[in-house]
Amino acid sequence: MQKISENVYWNGIQDWELKLFHGHEFSTHRGSTYNSYLIRDEKTVLVDTVWYPHKETYIKRLEKDVGVENIDMIIINHSEPDHGGALEELMKVRPDLPIYCTAFGEKIIKAHYHKDWNFKIVKTGDTLNIGKNTLTFVEMRMIHWPDSMMTYLDHDKVLMSNDAFGQHYCTKSLFNDEVDNDELYQEAIKYYANILTPFSAMIVKKIDEVIKLNLDIEIIAPSHGVIWRENPGQIIEAYVKWASDYSEDFAVIIYDTMYEATLRMAESIEEGLSSKGVKAKLYNCSVSDMSDLITEIFKANAIAIGSSTVNNSPLTSIVSISHEILTHKMKGKPFVSFGSYGWSGEAPGHIAETLVKAKLNQVCEPVKIKYTPTEDDLKSCFDAGVKLAEAIKEKL
Ligand code: FEO
Repeated sequence: MQKISENVYWNGIQDWELKLFHGHEFSTHRGSTYNSYLIRDEKTVLVDTVWYPHKETYIKRLEKDVGVENIDMIIINHSEPDHGGALEELMKVRPDLPIYCTAFGEKIIKAHYHKDWNFKIVKTGDTLNIGKNTLTFVEMRMIHWPDSMMTYLDHDKVLMSNDAFGQHYCTKSLFNDEVDNDELYQEAIKYYANILTPFSAMIVKKIDEVIKLNLDIEIIAPSHGVIWRENPGQIIEAYVKWASDYSEDFAVIIYDTMYEATLRMAESIEEGLSSKGVKAKLYNCSVSDMSDLITEIFKANAIAIGSSTVNNSPLTSIVSISHEILTHKMKGKPFVSFGSYGWSGEAPGHIAETLVKAKLNQVCEPVKIKYTPTEDDLKSCFDAGVKLAEAIKEKL
């Protein structure tokens, strides 16, 4: 166990080999960690556990370092199996152990394990004295599960934020001041874009609520990745920015193509954007990492999405990324849709329908061309790029 403050120890698992998370949904190029914490005050308090494939290692180490019989209570800030996954194993040894969690936490834990353990329900503002530290609980409902919660320790000035402010980032050091900060922010924004974007409106309100609690925070200890020890306020500021109609200074052009006609269209759109000084990145969706692509879309100030038409529809990868934009609620960005076709040409219209439903702003009619583009066809793509550039400038 590694000490992170006077009374708090990191008691997690470093998963160097993890490459996919949430089943096969989220790529984790730099592994991840499951950060459980142990508070050694007058009471010995465990905060969260780890993902269940690591439960035996976790319990054995806990037994060796502290003795499971010496733990007075466990706080489950969030019961998703990457944090609550060793709870059942722990409860086999200590079936009497009080479990502090939200009301939703109790329901979800019962639905997972079908056991009626010793639940102690807490809500925002509830406190619990454990010696030098008094714990304050802050519910984070739907950020990102109904049961999510933070726990604050007033003596050590540690905010255990669970998923919030986390990253799928496994490093030798546990602390933000000892890792490559470019990598750290790549992982933090990827985590935000992929997991938290749908909840941005709630995040703005929640951060405001937490600021009003006037907590003196020296350390933010999330449940994945490194601990924010140096200037912990920086990640709160980043979340406020990311949750508020965030964009960076580039557009993305995402396409899938069967015989390169749609690729030619994508290149002409890029030229149109470039003629107006807008930088653009091109991605063939079918050979790109979806989680990285979602991150790029989250960061982009405009989007062009194109696909050939097959079976009256866009290609599979484009159906999928359009749906991701919708479900991630990445609204407000200007977009164009485009694609080549043989005889029916529904794909650009289908893409536009999904993105309009997602509340993105369509800047022109879908651009569709038959078979191989002519010079005139490419000029219409170039013009669509120009319109997209103008929409970006109007938004600024
Ligand atoms: Fe890291 Fe929502 O679990």
